[in-house]
Amino acid sequence: MKFQLKSDSISKLSADIIILAINKSNELCSSLSLSKFIQDDLNLIIKLDDLSKDAGSVNIAHMHDGAFKRVCFVRIQKQDSLDEEGLLKLAKNIFKSFKSIKCGTIALPVSQFINKKINEGTVANLFTKAAIDESYEINSLKSDKKASKNNYQINFQANKLDSNSIKLGIKEGQAIAEGMNLTKDLGNLPPNICTPTYLANQAKEIAKDFKMKSTTLSQKQIEKLKMGSFLSVAKGSRVEPKFIIIEHKKGKKSSKPHVLVGKGITFDSGGISLKPGAAMDEMKYDMCGAATVLGVMKTIGLLNLPLNVVGLIPACENMPDGLAVKPGDIVTSMSGQTIEILNTDAEGRLVLCDALTYAERYKPETVIDIATLTGACVIALGHHASAVFSKSDDLAKDLLEAGKKSIDKAWRMPLWDEYQPLLNSNFADIANIGGRAAGSITAACFLSRFTKKYSWAHIDIAGTAWNSGSNKGATGRPVSLLSQFLIHKTKK
Ligand code: BES
Ligand code: MN
Ligand code: ZN
Repeated sequence: MKFQLKSDSISKLSADIIILAINKSNELCSSLSLSKFIQDDLNLIIKLDDLSKDAGSVNIAHMHDGAFKRVCFVRIQKQDSLDEEGLLKLAKNIFKSFKSIKCGTIALPVSQFINKKINEGTVANLFTKAAIDESYEINSLKSDKKASKNNYQINFQANKLDSNSIKLGIKEGQAIAEGMNLTKDLGNLPPNICTPTYLANQAKEIAKDFKMKSTTLSQKQIEKLKMGSFLSVAKGSRVEPKFIIIEHKKGKKSSKPHVLVGKGITFDSGGISLKPGAAMDEMKYDMCGAATVLGVMKTIGLLNLPLNVVGLIPACENMPDGLAVKPGDIVTSMSGQTIEILNTDAEGRLVLCDALTYAERYKPETVIDIATLTGACVIALGHHASAVFSKSDDLAKDLLEAGKKSIDKAWRMPLWDEYQPLLNSNFADIANIGGRAAGSITAACFLSRFTKKYSWAHIDIAGTAWNSGSNKGATGRPVSLLSQFLIHKTKK
């Protein structure tokens, strides 16, 4: 994939396809200086009046010999009322439709999408993201490998004056989409391949590519740290747990780091509290929090962001076994708090709480954990928004705004102290489940007990990290949200 800025006038360009926006009244954007020959050709097509009328719809037509072999009409109701979300949808529709045709070079006149809300950089950013995101092909293990065919050169045609903004839009869009694609790849891998060790090797590779530092702690080292809660989850599995650390130190020495903690359960069978069989394969996606952390590290590496960022990943499998942790077992977390494990399927919080305690040593500016934590979150918000929990209004607001800006939506949930007593245990400091009511909130309440020493937010991505059904696959969310959050920190 190649993205370029062309500041020649449209009449000097040629391409396999040109993208043209058409409004409700069948008019093209008036400021485009198309040659008369092309204009006549387009008018003939438009006059037939059979281009779809739905906003965001795409129609492709062939043209007579000329600079552009095809035209891709996209319907916008009104240029003035287009917003970023509408533009991203439209861009995604365009690249979906390109999968079935042969187009290498794409001409994209930027001006037709500009209005008060959308500037040139945003157009470049959203189209770049959409092109890479939509061209993602699952790195499948099918034996008849098909060669990848979605390899475009996109020429953004715009005024020279806007070149800096467009170049930055392309750069950030590309970095974010490539981070997302890494997250999708890791999520989609089968759990017999994507093990804790595999994730650790990925962290090492990213560290090597972007001059970061990565450290992997072995079971012995994790024991030394007294992460009794994390280790209890790993007990039922034959694969070794790993505690993965990856550090990007490109900020001032004196500036405190942002710590990202990702749930890295490479397979969640439920353990002794075994899950039902239906769709259990999807629990390979229970490491999508970890994959998000690695995806964001890749993005910030590509952008070389001047920040200090630490990624922490407690990675293991949750399996049933003769030696597995049992309902009723009491374990001691790294913080010293004792936990009564009433359900071994509530394992995410058990691995995260020790990683959150470990995060204290960085004296962090913020700590954000990302986890496919609860089925209850899917019941509450469905598949459109990730859930944000935080006691800090400022941090919650920053995350929601980053989600809005990147069109990777999040919604705030309450974390009030009234919910805390649901976690009371007769035998230990805290129980690992709070009953049926408010399941995603009590899970967040559990984590909150380990995050008193810094500003913290929890993002539950159980509903947003992957799609089920015929379209099964990881989404790469919320890499875009978190990258936007960190990019914004560099602009302050
Ligand atoms: N990984 C699951 C959460 C999950 C389930 C995410 C389905 C996406 C889809 C988590 O470890 C889990 O099993 N949570 C339990 C908690 C319960 C036992 C309190 C759940 O949600 O059922
Ligand atoms: Mn579970
Ligand atoms: Zn889980």
